[in-house]
Amino acid sequence: MSPQNTSVEITAAPAGWRNPLRDKRDKRMPRIPGPCGVVIFGVTGDLARKKLMPAIYDLANRGLLPANFALVGFARRDWADEDFGKLVCEAVRQHARTPYRQEVWDRLAEGIRFVQGTFDDEKSFGRLAETLEKLDAERGTGGNHAFYLSIPPKAFQTVCEQLQKTGLARPQQDRWSRVVIEKPFGHDLQSAQELNAVVNSVFPEESVFRIDHYLGKETVQNILALRFANELYEPVWNNNYVDHVQITMAEDIGLGGRAGYYDGVGAARDVIQNHLLQLMALTAMEEPVNFSPHELQAEKIKVLSATQPMLPLDQTTARGQYTAGWQGSEKVPGLLEEEGFSKDSITETFAAIALEVDTRRWAGVPFFLRTGKRLGRRVTEIALVFKRAPHLPFDTTMTEELGKNALVLRVQPDEGITLRFGSKVPGSQMEVRDVNMDFSYSSAFAEDSPEAYERLILDMLLGEPSLFPVNREVELSWEILDPVLEHWAEHGKPDPYESGTWGPDSAFDMIHRMGREWRRP
Ligand code: BG6
Repeated sequence: MSPQNTSVEITAAPAGWRNPLRDKRDKRMPRIPGPCGVVIFGVTGDLARKKLMPAIYDLANRGLLPANFALVGFARRDWADEDFGKLVCEAVRQHARTPYRQEVWDRLAEGIRFVQGTFDDEKSFGRLAETLEKLDAERGTGGNHAFYLSIPPKAFQTVCEQLQKTGLARPQQDRWSRVVIEKPFGHDLQSAQELNAVVNSVFPEESVFRIDHYLGKETVQNILALRFANELYEPVWNNNYVDHVQITMAEDIGLGGRAGYYDGVGAARDVIQNHLLQLMALTAMEEPVNFSPHELQAEKIKVLSATQPMLPLDQTTARGQYTAGWQGSEKVPGLLEEEGFSKDSITETFAAIALEVDTRRWAGVPFFLRTGKRLGRRVTEIALVFKRAPHLPFDTTMTEELGKNALVLRVQPDEGITLRFGSKVPGSQMEVRDVNMDFSYSSAFAEDSPEAYERLILDMLLGEPSLFPVNREVELSWEILDPVLEHWAEHGKPDPYESGTWGPDSAFDMIHRMGREWRRP
C-alpha cells in the first residue's frame, strides 16, 4: 500500500517567535501569562468539572495566573454569577490537585462570571461580548481571550461563527483571541478536514490550540529528554538494535455513562488516532533542530507521513468488545449491558494495530499499538524491545529464562523508566535471568508532577504551541487509521473478551503471527 499523501508541510514560525537557541532567558523560571480571560463553553460537562476548572485553580494556587484574570462560563442554565461560582468551587474542592486555600479561591472568584445562552442565539453572544468588555474594564483583562470549546464537535461551527460575528474571534492588534478544541477532531480524514476548514475559516491556525492531553503529561515530555539529552540511548534507537516497539494504553474502567460519546466511535478513534499516534511520533521522530514549535511539529509530521499500517489488515490488526467478567473482586457488566449502548453495538472497546515506519531508522521494525477498556489493569507504556545478542556463548539451558532486552517508558500510573536485561543468578552455576533496573519519578524527585491540563492551559495562555498538534498532524493520523477503520467496517464484528483479561484471542494471534509476544505489564 502506498501512503496516501507523503508531502511534508513545514509550518512557518508564528510572528514574533524567538529562536530558542538565541533566547537567553533562564528557562527554569516559571513564566506567567499576561492579563487575560478564559471562556468555557460546556461548563456543566464532565471535562470542565473534573479537569478544566480544577486545573485553573491549581495554576492560581501555584501563582501561575496573572492578577488580571477572569473565568467566564457560558451555558443554557438560568444561573447568576454566584451559581456558576458555586459549581466551580465544588469542582475545585473535589478534583483539584493542590490543597484548597481560601485566599486563592477568593481572588479567583472575584473574576468569575456567567453568561446564560445557547449557541445559536446571537443575543447570547452579544451578552458574552459585553461581559468580556466589562471584565476588561473592571479586571484589566486586556482584551485577551481564550475560548475553550468543551462541547461536541458538531457545535464548533455555530460557536466559531457566533464568535466571528461579535468580532471576538479577530481582536484588535496587540490583543489575542485563541480557541481551544478537544477531540474528537473528526471521525475520519474527510470529516477532520471539514472540521479544520470550519475552525480555520474563523481562527487562523496559530490561534487554534488542539488539546491532546497526553502531550501535557510529564512522562510524555520526558521521551524527548530521554532521547535527546543523553548519549546512552540514541545510538541503539534504530533498526540495528530494536526488534519492535510496543505502545500500550490499557484501562481497567468500563464505558458506563459514556455511551453518548463512545457508541459508534470505538477505541481506535478514541485514543489511537490521537494519544497513541502522538506517543509513536515522539518515539520514532528524528531529533528536531531545537524545541521551537515549528521544528518539533516538522519532525512529527515527517515521521507520521512515513507511517502506514502493515498489511494484510486481517492479519495485522485485532479488535474486541468486553463481555461481563470480574475486575478485581467486582463483577462488571459487558459493553452490551452498559446503559445507553445499543444491544447490537459493534463498537470496539479494544484495538490493536501494527504499523511500519518507512524511514532508514525504522525500516523493518513493527510498531504495535494496543488499547482497551476493562483490561487487567490501568497502564500506559512504551516498550522498545531489543534484538537478541547475535551470539550467546552459553549452554542453552543457562539462558532458558533470558528474554529480550527492553527499555520501557512507563507513562502511568507508576511513572518512570525500566531497563530489562539479563543478569547472572547468584550461585555456583552460570544461569542468566531477566532483571529490571528502575527509575521512578516518585523516588527520584521531590516535586509532584502537575496535571496535564495545568501545563496545557498555561501554555495556551502563554501562546506557546509546542504541545498542541497542528491540523496536518491530525489529518496524517487519520490517513494512517482510515484504511484500518474501513477494513473493520467491511468485516463483521469485534471479537469478545472477558472483562479483566488482556483482550481477545485474536490480538494474541495477531502478534504471534509476526513472531512476537505482547508484554504483560
Ligand atoms: C481520553 C479518552 O482521551 O483519555 C478516554 O477519551 C480515556 O476514553 C482517557 O479514558 C484516558 O486518559 P488518562 O489520562 O486517564 O490516561
